[in-house]
Amino acid sequence: MEFKHIPIMLNEVIEGLDIKPNGIYVDCTVGGGGHSSEIAKRLKGGHLYCFDRDEDAIKKSSQVLEKFKEKITLHKSNYKEAPTILKEEYGVEKIDGFLIDLGVSSYQIDEGERGFSFVNNGPLDMRMDRNEDVVTAKEIVNTFSYQELVRIFQVYGEEEFARKIASNIVEKRQKKEIETTFELRDIIEEALPKKVVYSRGGASKKVFQALRIYINEELDGLDKVLKELVDMLSPAGRGTVLTFHSLEDRIVKNLFKLESTECLCPPRIPKCICGHKASIKLVNRKPIIASEDEQKINSRSTCAKLRVVEKI
Ligand SMILES: C[S@@+](CC[C@H](N)C(=O)[O-])C[C@H]1O[C@@H](n2cnc3c(N)ncnc32)[C@H](O)[C@@H]1O
Repeated sequence: MEFKHIPIMLNEVIEGLDIKPNGIYVDCTVGGGGHSSEIAKRLKGGHLYCFDRDEDAIKKSSQVLEKFKEKITLHKSNYKEAPTILKEEYGVEKIDGFLIDLGVSSYQIDEGERGFSFVNNGPLDMRMDRNEDVVTAKEIVNTFSYQELVRIFQVYGEEEFARKIASNIVEKRQKKEIETTFELRDIIEEALPKKVVYSRGGASKKVFQALRIYINEELDGLDKVLKELVDMLSPAGRGTVLTFHSLEDRIVKNLFKLESTECLCPPRIPKCICGHKASIKLVNRKPIIASEDEQKINSRSTCAKLRVVEKI
């Protein structure tokens, strides 16, 4: 299947990175190589390190980025390991910019076989790295307890009908194992009030999002890796992060807020005793959102938020 993914807020990301032609850049989530192509184009003497945990993404982006191969290194791994890999395998201690474009690519969603989609039927999988021995969506919906399902749907999907959905899943799986994304979608929709099914636009999306985040541990350690990347930035280096839902955006926002705050002492203390120093400044006070034109062309961009910081 063709790897299709339109890079979100491409111009805004490139502007945010403020690329130095001889700089060292890191794309933590190379996907189809859309953002990376534009970064690579601007490098002269610089280098771009690209990571992705999905083998298909690495294969596809290596074709897309072929013409820039002298200035690009592709590495299949979880970006949470990127700071260590950069230092230990490539001897890179300092970088001039990084991009994390969180979430799934359109390719992963469109390919039913990967089991991420409630629009295309496929086996319930949802692992971004299919070589990893982690639980699949099928194992979760067929074996996890009612309480565990409710927790996952509430915490990672902010699904207000978590109990009703979990209870329907538990009832249905007693008769037949739940195997496909369409079976799960129908079970979810059956548990929801009719008006929610019609008004939500993808009634099962919160549960699908919750399962995906849980399986791929998308939120775990995000703040830690962000801090490590910020620490690696050279003065005036830029960090850019694209998020697609409030859970991940909150983590990014809080970490950037903490790192851009000069003193963490409570206001009642007249003189700073914490010694905390800001290491970055926020380039934009509010997150950047996609233009109306982009939102019209690409529905994935409607919920995207871009945060940009600069190392002090
Ligand atoms: C939204 S896409 C990136 C698209 C890319 N910016 C482009 O222009 O084509 C997100 C990518 O991040 C990857 N990804 C998600 N979580 C990851 C992680 N923890 N480590 C490495 N890659 C990850 C996914 O496999 C997917 O390919």
